[in-house]
Amino acid sequence: MKQLNSFKLTRQEVRELAEKNPTPFLVVSLDKIEENYEFLREHLPRAGVYYAMKANPDKEILKRLADLGANFDVASAGEMVMLHELGIEGSRMIYANTVKDFKGLAAAREFGVRRFTFDDASEIKKMANYVPGADVLVRISVKNSKALVDLNTKFGAEPYMAIPLLKQAQEAGLNPVGICFHVGSQSLSTAAYEEALLLCRGLFNEARDAGLQLTDLDIGGGLPVPSAEGLAVDLAKMMSAINKQINRLFPDTAVWCEPGRYICGTAVNLVSSVIGKKERHGSLWYTVDESIYGALSGIIYDHWTYPLKTFGHGQKRKSTIVGPSCDGIDVLYRDLDLPAMDIGDCILVSDIGAYASVSATRFNGFEIAPTLVYEAEIQHGAIPWRIAV
Ligand SMILES: Cc1ncc(COP(=O)(O)O)c(C=O)c1O
Repeated sequence: MKQLNSFKLTRQEVRELAEKNPTPFLVVSLDKIEENYEFLREHLPRAGVYYAMKANPDKEILKRLADLGANFDVASAGEMVMLHELGIEGSRMIYANTVKDFKGLAAAREFGVRRFTFDDASEIKKMANYVPGADVLVRISVKNSKALVDLNTKFGAEPYMAIPLLKQAQEAGLNPVGICFHVGSQSLSTAAYEEALLLCRGLFNEARDAGLQLTDLDIGGGLPVPSAEGLAVDLAKMMSAINKQINRLFPDTAVWCEPGRYICGTAVNLVSSVIGKKERHGSLWYTVDESIYGALSGIIYDHWTYPLKTFGHGQKRKSTIVGPSCDGIDVLYRDLDLPAMDIGDCILVSDIGAYASVSATRFNGFEIAPTLVYEAEIQHGAIPWRIAV
């Protein structure tokens, strides 16, 4: 069965790009974004896609996905404005933040967003006031111990509350269309989806008995980054199993998913370079020009260790790589065995497309690293991102 690889610049490409552009910079492969999207469409054809742009709202990624026919999961007015500026209609968005602020509700009204999720009665009046008659899906909490990021402690109504909440929404003049869930981000469990789907089937039956005709099911995000090192998941198998369960339990329901990290995680590389070098505690400490407060913020916020490739030439030494900020927490990689590097040498960090650059800050006054588009910068050969460094 077809597997998905990561986009990875070659040594030559890193050199070429670093000669033309000051480091640090990110490089996104839009063809890789497209490949991930098409792979999902192929193996999970029953689920329409709302890309969770919170994972990476880079404009070029949004444009490519919009061209491919994707819809978008938005969390705030800011995200709606970004899409609007790209000419993407509100009808292609789902406002899937269960607690919406008033700026977000006003933006939804302005841009014609008609689809919302909620998980508490306190949200109903707000939606009824701003977007009367809108389609609403109740989010339920589900169980999954095999997700990197738990979302079900903070979000999701208890399943027994789903139908009463949908009824209440209907009484308030909203249109209750369905149920949604999120199994947690970077889920390694197919069973978590299968069990959640089974739970939803029971709730759809309960809704029918209560006089509600539900038409939509949203299975959220959670699909893992395809080639995250050490996390071997057969994604084709996982998606096909989910698709099969949907066909079995929901043959006539409109089904949606909200993938974030799966779409963009493997499509971005970071190129940074060594700006300092010193001996410390029996190890070589290299300072590079990108930080845990910058594009590498996912080390903290996303609990992630990104694959690293260095281009040193000297003897191997125990090495630690740190960011340029004046904070002790800014340590990127500890005690690796690396060939010695010099000031000016590049490092390459791959699989850094999700929940990383989006949470970069300007702490200490360092600029946000720009993103280059691989296909616009480098033109040679077919699918070169398949070539390992
Ligand atoms: C409502 C919602 N949908 C989708 C996603 C995307 O999840 P993932 O990146 O795991 O696919 C998130 C992530 O936080 C979310 O909150």
